[in-house]
Amino acid sequence: MNILNLLKSRFADALQGITDEAAAFAEMVKPVQDPRFGDYQANFAMPLGKKIGANPKETAQRVVDKLVITDVCHPPEVAGPGFINLKVLNAWLEAQVNAAADDDRLGVPLIAQPKTVVVDFSSPNVAKPMHVGHLRSTVIGDAIARVQRFLGNKVIADNHIGDWGTQFGMIIYGYKHFVDEQAYARDAVGELARLYRLVNRLCDYHDAQAELAPAQQEIATAKTELEQLEKSADSADKAAQKTLKKIRTDLATKQAALKSLQQKIEAIDTDAPLKALADAHPGISRQAREETAQLHRGNAENRRLWNEFLPACLQALQRVYDRLQIHFDLALGESYYDPMLPEVVSDLEQKQLAKISDGAMCVFIPGNSAPFIVRKADGAFTYATTDLATIRYRVDQLHADEILYVVDARQSEHFKLLMATARSWGFDKVGLKHVSFGTVMGQDGRPYKTRSGDTVGLESLLDDAVAKAREIVAANDDGKHDAEGNPKPELSQEQRTEIAEMVGIGGVKYADLMHNRESDYIFDADKMLAMTGNTATYLQYAYARIQGIFRRGGVDPTLLRAQQSKIVLRESTERALALQVCRYAETLDALIQDSRPNLLTAYLYDLAGCLTAFYDQCPVLKAESEEIRASRLRLCDLVGRIMQHGLSLLGISAPQQM
Ligand code: ARG
Repeated sequence: MNILNLLKSRFADALQGITDEAAAFAEMVKPVQDPRFGDYQANFAMPLGKKIGANPKETAQRVVDKLVITDVCHPPEVAGPGFINLKVLNAWLEAQVNAAADDDRLGVPLIAQPKTVVVDFSSPNVAKPMHVGHLRSTVIGDAIARVQRFLGNKVIADNHIGDWGTQFGMIIYGYKHFVDEQAYARDAVGELARLYRLVNRLCDYHDAQAELAPAQQEIATAKTELEQLEKSADSADKAAQKTLKKIRTDLATKQAALKSLQQKIEAIDTDAPLKALADAHPGISRQAREETAQLHRGNAENRRLWNEFLPACLQALQRVYDRLQIHFDLALGESYYDPMLPEVVSDLEQKQLAKISDGAMCVFIPGNSAPFIVRKADGAFTYATTDLATIRYRVDQLHADEILYVVDARQSEHFKLLMATARSWGFDKVGLKHVSFGTVMGQDGRPYKTRSGDTVGLESLLDDAVAKAREIVAANDDGKHDAEGNPKPELSQEQRTEIAEMVGIGGVKYADLMHNRESDYIFDADKMLAMTGNTATYLQYAYARIQGIFRRGGVDPTLLRAQQSKIVLRESTERALALQVCRYAETLDALIQDSRPNLLTAYLYDLAGCLTAFYDQCPVLKAESEEIRASRLRLCDLVGRIMQHGLSLLGISAPQQM
């Protein structure tokens, strides 16, 4: 049962005849934070009153008079300027919580009209470093896919692997000129990553040198302009001062860019062997691009190399996915769409959506100065062309109703243009959404980098987390007393290893999920594995604690379920816990509305908080009567099931003890 939806629909009925936007105003029913105001609150009286030209308080009363709700709530109260406070009836709540306890779906209904949803996530570029940004996409995308699937949508988890980009030109160039055969035979992926980094640095070096003089020139021009303006500008002239300020910030940006060019150059100039390599390969940037072009044109040698490199790279990725327990339904990769690209461009051209500008084939979006380039002047197709072909494939072949792109916020411009182009190209019925997320930052306030910056780096990041988790498990185990001060059974080495894996990986995932996805966050291994606070560890512990109660009481949870003893709500904390249990459905519903896994982490964290308050007030094993004991055990079991289920939707396992 989705309580929030039930209340909304009752309000929508009551609002009929008062406004023609009943559903929109009914959306303004929300759970309340402060239990003194009840459980839910409707906050539409002010805007509604304004709209219909009536006093808000009277408007609220008018709605309340029409509201049919006494089967669910106490008589609603109109408070302050017109807030409508609702408190759910205990008997009704009891019925809901008992129904959830008897339900394999934990009270969560299936979506009435299921859709086909493609979730495009992870999508690293092979042979290029897979960084923590890809890890974040992987973890967030996987959670969204799992929740969508649980709610009944048909989900296609699609790893849109970058297996066709310019990095291959660099690797091919590197392989042809710099390969260390022995290293390649030993560890192909490691050697390819080295070659990529090497060629990338050399290209950067020459590109930076080519950009140096123009950059210096631009700065000189800006400086002159600034000096002149500073002399002539009137300090009282606001517009002039604003222009000055803008020129100054522009200048600072340009100077910073120049500095980074100089640093790139210096890093190589001061490294004699690298400098010798750079000098020996002056045309490397152009030649690496040419290797990519040759690959795309079907050059036999380059295709052979690509076919040789790709499986090894994919295997290295698979290792990370296995460890993270991530599953994809599809992983066609960019290369799959390559044969479709010429036709995509000619179709856009024919429909007069694209035209040549400066030699490149461009789609111009009204209101956007930057064009969407679908074929470069040198004839190469782009990331954009591939994404257009992919949309067509997903709509025509996969029958997607919705496509979610779980990709870093830095690509939002690309997705804006992509979606606008797709719509005018005729794909206006499919829902396209950029599920954008912020950057993972290091303690130094800069984007986080793993030690080696590649998949190996990512694996060692996971190893580190698991090693830390192992210490935590050991420390927790060595005391051999649980939260209630009772002796705990000792864990075997295998158990410790298994639990450490769950806690370590779970901690890393949870940190990616618990933040509002749009914000940047600081990667802090200690914080993410802490036993208290909003962490996976804390929730896993809350789950294990419930299992501990069963162990100590000699209670078999499956028997408990079969007996279907009734949950009765007597104490305030018992009621609050039951209400939180019943909010699972509305939480998952809200999560998929806007693809926000942090709603689920927040929910579980609150659930654990309610559980702790409940333990403090209500004895379970030592409850005053057999009936209350059975009720509380059953409530604990239900909370445990939701905890475990909620964590599993986040891709996190919960150990039975820790
Ligand atoms: N491979 C891209 C990158 O690493 C991400 C691809 C995202 N998906 C897409 N359909 N564009 O930046």
